[in-house]
Amino acid sequence: MSIRTTLVEINLNNLTHNCRQMQSLQPKGLFFCPMVKADAYGHGAERVVTTLMDLGVDNFGLALYEEAQELRELGIVAPHLLVFAPFSLEALKLSQQLSLTPVLATLSDFKILSSFEFTKPQPVHLMINTGMNRLGLDMEHIESAISEIKSNQNIQLKGVCTHLNLAEDMGHSESFSALQLKKFESIKKAFKGLTDNFHVFNSAGLIGKNVHSGFDIFNNIGSRPGISLYGAMSELSNSMSQEKLKLLGLKPVMGLKTKIIHTHRLQEGESLSYGCTWRAQKPTTIGVLPIGYADGLSRALSNRGEVLVSGRKCLIIGTICMDFCMVDITVLTKAQQGDWVYVIGRGPEEGPSAASIAEKLNTISYEILTGVGKRVPRVYKGHI
Ligand SMILES: Cc1ncc(COP(=O)(O)O)c(C=O)c1O
Repeated sequence: MSIRTTLVEINLNNLTHNCRQMQSLQPKGLFFCPMVKADAYGHGAERVVTTLMDLGVDNFGLALYEEAQELRELGIVAPHLLVFAPFSLEALKLSQQLSLTPVLATLSDFKILSSFEFTKPQPVHLMINTGMNRLGLDMEHIESAISEIKSNQNIQLKGVCTHLNLAEDMGHSESFSALQLKKFESIKKAFKGLTDNFHVFNSAGLIGKNVHSGFDIFNNIGSRPGISLYGAMSELSNSMSQEKLKLLGLKPVMGLKTKIIHTHRLQEGESLSYGCTWRAQKPTTIGVLPIGYADGLSRALSNRGEVLVSGRKCLIIGTICMDFCMVDITVLTKAQQGDWVYVIGRGPEEGPSAASIAEKLNTISYEILTGVGKRVPRVYKGHI
């Protein structure tokens, strides 16, 4: 039971809907790996994974070995947990113990494997760098990687992948993604006979591949969607992709709400909060909210952010504190302690979307969602 009145509401029916919509963009049976890293983009990995498992999803992507360990320790034993993290001896030991699937990304990863005393064969995926220049085996090392794989019977290659870093640009044959995909076609040829599983597409890529002619040849390449499943994609710059995104009707999964804990009437000239950054120009009613930057309400929204109270937009005034902030509720003559306040909404009637908050802060919705503090309780609705 939570005493706090600030809470995150997660609508698992919306998650299910979004997952089905994204699955509909690729042939059935093709590799599909929802990204549930960073506690499922702040939604709570355990409930997200169990909900998606009920849809038959059996691969999940994580960014840390510790994240995968936590899921196993919560009793999530069946699905393949792919870990997109730097590989190490410790990571290999844990992978053997907990049946995790490391995503290898350098030639030195194979050195660790070659000197290891295996208790059972080790499934791995391999990430190739086609332009992201983050984690990924350089193309010129592919032949060496293949001979390492062939010479070590304990390595089970379960998939080969790359990552698009400009997936929104799909649309013409000379786009950055098209060049990456061209490279990936040659990668696929090199790994022929070693695995049938190839995966590339993030959310924007999966949508883009479906609407742009010439990209349907990549229909046999699987995907790793993240943000789309959580219903928080920003508008896509490509108009055809944006149209498709609209048609998909993805629904936001996360809402963040709180309650007014106190109201004050301030007289003209009075100020509030740290630094006195706001001063009343006229008599003003303010509501105090028990949510601050330690909960993920960025301090940069001070005197700029908006929340929704009784269907009306209200401005966050003064400096946002660690645990509190204040809003101008003068227009709401009946507003009182205990009224719900929507901070991140799942629809226009529920307050600003994560994407619109992100735009105000010159960032992306991913940062807004993953930034919601761990100390805010998650309450789940739908899908028992
Ligand atoms: C390796 C990898 N694959 C897939 C994704 C999912 O991307 P998106 O959330 O844009 O769908 C990410 C997210 O950053 C990623 O790092």
